[in-house]
Amino acid sequence: MASRLNTSLHNALSLINPFNTKPFSSRNTFRFSKKLSSSSSQSSSCKRALYCTSTFKTHENSGDGDGDGDGGETFVLTTPLYYVNAPPHMGSAYTTIAADSIARFQRLLGKKVIFITGTDEHGEKIATSAAANGRNPAKHCDLISQSYRNLWKELDIGYDKFIRTTDPKHEAIVKEFYARVFANGDIYRADYEGLYCVNCEEYKDEKELLENNCCPVHQMPCVARKEDNYFFALSKYQKPLEEILSQDSRFVQPSYRLHEVQSWIKSGLRDFSISRALVEWGIPVPDDDKQTIYVWFDALLGYISALTEENEQQNLETAVSLGWPASLHLIGKDILRFHAVYWPAMLMSAGLNLPKMVFGHGFLTKDGMKMGKSLGNTLEPFELVQKFGPDAVRYFFLREVEFGNDGDYSEDRFIKIVNAHLANTIGNLLNRTLGLLKKNCESTLVVDSTNAAEGIPLKDTVEKLVEKARTNYESLSLSTACEAVLEIGNAGNSYMDQRAPWLLFKQGGDSVEAAAKDLVIILEVMRIIAVALSPIAPCLSLRIYSQLGYSVDQFNSITWNDTKWGELKGGQVMAQANPVFARIELNPENGEEEKKPKDSKKAGKVKVKVEQQPQTQTVAEA
Ligand code: MSP
Repeated sequence: MASRLNTSLHNALSLINPFNTKPFSSRNTFRFSKKLSSSSSQSSSCKRALYCTSTFKTHENSGDGDGDGDGGETFVLTTPLYYVNAPPHMGSAYTTIAADSIARFQRLLGKKVIFITGTDEHGEKIATSAAANGRNPAKHCDLISQSYRNLWKELDIGYDKFIRTTDPKHEAIVKEFYARVFANGDIYRADYEGLYCVNCEEYKDEKELLENNCCPVHQMPCVARKEDNYFFALSKYQKPLEEILSQDSRFVQPSYRLHEVQSWIKSGLRDFSISRALVEWGIPVPDDDKQTIYVWFDALLGYISALTEENEQQNLETAVSLGWPASLHLIGKDILRFHAVYWPAMLMSAGLNLPKMVFGHGFLTKDGMKMGKSLGNTLEPFELVQKFGPDAVRYFFLREVEFGNDGDYSEDRFIKIVNAHLANTIGNLLNRTLGLLKKNCESTLVVDSTNAAEGIPLKDTVEKLVEKARTNYESLSLSTACEAVLEIGNAGNSYMDQRAPWLLFKQGGDSVEAAAKDLVIILEVMRIIAVALSPIAPCLSLRIYSQLGYSVDQFNSITWNDTKWGELKGGQVMAQANPVFARIELNPENGEEEKKPKDSKKAGKVKVKVEQQPQTQTVAEA
C-alpha cells in the first residue's frame, strides 16, 4: 500500500516558509542561547555513584546535590527509556549494564557523570498491554517501571537520574519543545495512510517489510492505518544532517552504523507524523486535545527532562542548562534511525545542541533471533542474577559480546567463561597468594610493592595492559577492555607459577625473602586488577579490595590513577582469605540445581545442572 500524504490548510502556512534562518553548517552552531548551552556552567550536581547494592547510593537517592567529581568535565550518558509493556528482559538489561560500566569508568577518570535511564510509558503498545493485564495504564506503568528499578538494583546499576515519561515535569518539557518546533514552522497537519508496526510504534516503508507485510524486527504483520496527524518536517533537515555526518564521523558509532545512517539519509528523508488521533494514552497535542503526541516525539525528550532538579524550575531552559548536550546516547541498533536522524533534526528545529555521540550496539540473540518481549524468546535477568550474581552476569555479556555486534547466549558458555576468568584466573590467584601470605608472613606485606618490583618485567607488562584497558574503555571496546584485565590476571598467574614461592619458602634462607616479595608483587597485581575491573564487576572488585586490607570508603574513592603500580605498602595487613568469586559447581550426576544464597553479593557456592564440565579449577597451593 502506498503511503499518502496530503497537506491540509491548517498548516500550509508553515510550509510556505519551510526553512528557518539558522545556519546549518556545523552542529556546534545549534545553540539554544549562549546562556543555556554551556555545560561548564552546570551546577555541580552529580553525586558519585557508589559501587555495590550494599552501599548503593547515587545522585538520585543521595539526598543532596553536591557534586564531588573533580574533573571539571561533565559526562552525560543515557540508556534508552524502556517500554513498560512488559518487565525487563536480558536484552534491555544489556544496554544498561554497558552504560553503567562506561559511567563507572568515566567517574574513575574523575569526571562528573550524569547517567540517565528511565521508562517510556505512553502510547498504544503500553495501553494495550495494560488492558491485557486488566490494569489501568497508570497503575500498569507504576508496576513495570518499578520492576526496571528493581532489576537495576540487583545488577548494581548506579544511575544518577531515572525519568518516567508520565512524570508531569517531563510532560511540561515535551509541550514546550513541541511549541518551539511549531514556532519554527516545522509542524504541519496532514492525512496519512500506511502500514504501522505497533511494536516498533512506527509507520513502515513497504519495501522494508517481509512477506505478508511482516515487520522484520518483530516478525508480525503491520496493520493498515489512515489518520489525520501532525507532521514534523524532517525532509527540511536532509542537508544539515548530511553535513553533520560528513563533518563529524564520530557522531554515529560504530563506523558501520554511520554508513547505514548515511545511506538512509541519502535515499531521501520523509516527514513523519508526530501525533496520533486514535491513541488516548499520551501527552495531548498543545491546542488540540483530540490528538496525543507520538511516543518518540515524547520519549526522546526524556533525555533532557531527566536533567531537571526538584528544586529548580521545570522548564526546557533550566533542564538544558543542567547538562545538555549529552555526551553519549547508548542504544540498540533497532532504534538508530530515531536517535541519529529524527532526534538531531528535532533538536536543530528547537535550536538545541546535538548529542556528541550515538552508539548503536547489537542484539542479544537466542537461536539467532533478537531476544525480545514481543517475540517472547527472552532470558530472565532476575533469574540469572539470582543464580549467578551481578558480577558474573555483567562480566559475561560485556566480555563475550563485542560491543556493537550481536551475541548469542548459552548457559554452557556462560559457566565456562565466568569460571575460567573470574573464579580461576582472578579469584583463585588471590586466594592462593593470601593463603601463602598467611602461612608464611602472618598476612602482612614485608616490603613496599614498588621496592618488590624493582627490575621485574611483570611491572612493565601490567602497565602496558592497564593502558590497553584504558584506551579500550575510552573507545567503548568493552570486551577488549575486559580482555586486557584478564591478561593482567594471566600474567600474575604465570609469575606465580614460574616463581613457585611455596617452594622458595620451603628452601629457607634468602629464598624466603624473595618468596615474600613475590607475594607482594602478586597482590599488587590483584589490586590493579580490582581497580581496572571495577567498571565491569564492581562487587567483585570491592571484595578483592577488602581482602587486601582496604575499607569500603577507600574503595569508593579509587580513581583510574590507582591502576599505577605502587599502592601496597610494607606492613599492610591483609584480611582473612575468602573466595572472592563463587565458582559455579556442576553436579551432572543427579541433575541437582542449587541456587545462589539470598545474599547474592556474597561469594558462595553455586550449583547448577549443566551438560558439560567447565575448565577445572587450579588447585590452591597454599
Ligand atoms: N522506548 C524505546 C526507546 C525510547 S528512547 C527515548 C524502546 N524501548 S525498548 O524497551 O523496546 O528497547 C530499549 C532498548 O533495549 C533498545 O536499545 C533495544 O535495542 C534494547 N534491546 C531490546 N532487546 C534487545 C536485545 N535482544 N538485545 C540487545 N538489546 C535489545 O525502544
